[in-house]
Amino acid sequence: MARLILIAGSANPRLAEAVARYLGIQLAAVDIGRFPDGEFHITIQQSIRGDDVFVLQSVSPPVDLHLIELLFVADACRRAGAGRITAVLPYLGYARQDRRVSGREPISARLVADAIQLVGYQQIVTVDLHAPAVEGFFTVATEILSAVPLLAGAIQPLLPPDAVIIAPDLGAAKLADRYARRLGLPVAIVHKERLSGEMVTASRVTGDVRGRLPVIVDDMITTGATIEAAARTVLAAGAHPAIIIAVTHPLLVGSAAARLDGLPVRHLFVTDSVPLPPGLHSPVEVVSLAPLLAAAIKRLHGQRSLADLRGYR
Ligand code: R5P
Repeated sequence: MARLILIAGSANPRLAEAVARYLGIQLAAVDIGRFPDGEFHITIQQSIRGDDVFVLQSVSPPVDLHLIELLFVADACRRAGAGRITAVLPYLGYARQDRRVSGREPISARLVADAIQLVGYQQIVTVDLHAPAVEGFFTVATEILSAVPLLAGAIQPLLPPDAVIIAPDLGAAKLADRYARRLGLPVAIVHKERLSGEMVTASRVTGDVRGRLPVIVDDMITTGATIEAAARTVLAAGAHPAIIIAVTHPLLVGSAAARLDGLPVRHLFVTDSVPLPPGLHSPVEVVSLAPLLAAAIKRLHGQRSLADLRGYR
């Protein structure tokens, strides 16, 4: 049987180390360096001929560098005779660009999917993919795992009976429903409109939030604009003046930390799909994806089903 090999990209080495520990293996010896002009130079320092290679890399900021690195590592693996190469992408950047909004734009998510497959990745594993449509951009076996069971399990002991799950926009309604079913809570939906990459506006909320503790859930926080608008909308509608936030991917760029600091955040639950940036004062609790990713890798290596890891229920 081919050996299981785990290669860490530079986006999230701590998560890769934790996954390796769960798998009871060492990370493969790989040197990801740079030439003086900034070009990547990647060397795999051990034989991987015929092996079952998993490359763990979040396509997180700086997104383009991490993407290029992901592509180059695959090429190195292919040329080194790897038996099978799987991309394990705890966070897949560009997934939000899954359609043209104003014309004369690329469908970047499609391009990224094409590139990932073109370089030789034969399987994809990712977590809470932003839009289900993106799965269709891949033609190889694609496993979409979910952090919802892990995050919901972490929130559950802290919830009063009168909590309400808040979808901060219509796109998050299905995700909110998955939390709500697990936690036995109702859902309310905020109606959001995006004005720019950093600005959104929210005008109203559908559902009963008065006197209830709001639990705002989303796939990611980028600038924090969406969470801030949702929080302010439900607080203005009479929700209990403390909020719990649960998001899978805490990108937290730009003014996100300051935005969160201005809200009555009781708990912020995130995963380690991307490393947390410094300067965050909110009471943050990180739920690791390591056991989930390790379980997925183990099963794929053993050609076993991942059905119960997908968290659709
Ligand atoms: C949008 O549809 C996503 O699910 C998130 O709500 C959004 O990308 C978060 O971005 P930001 O924090 O910048 O509002």
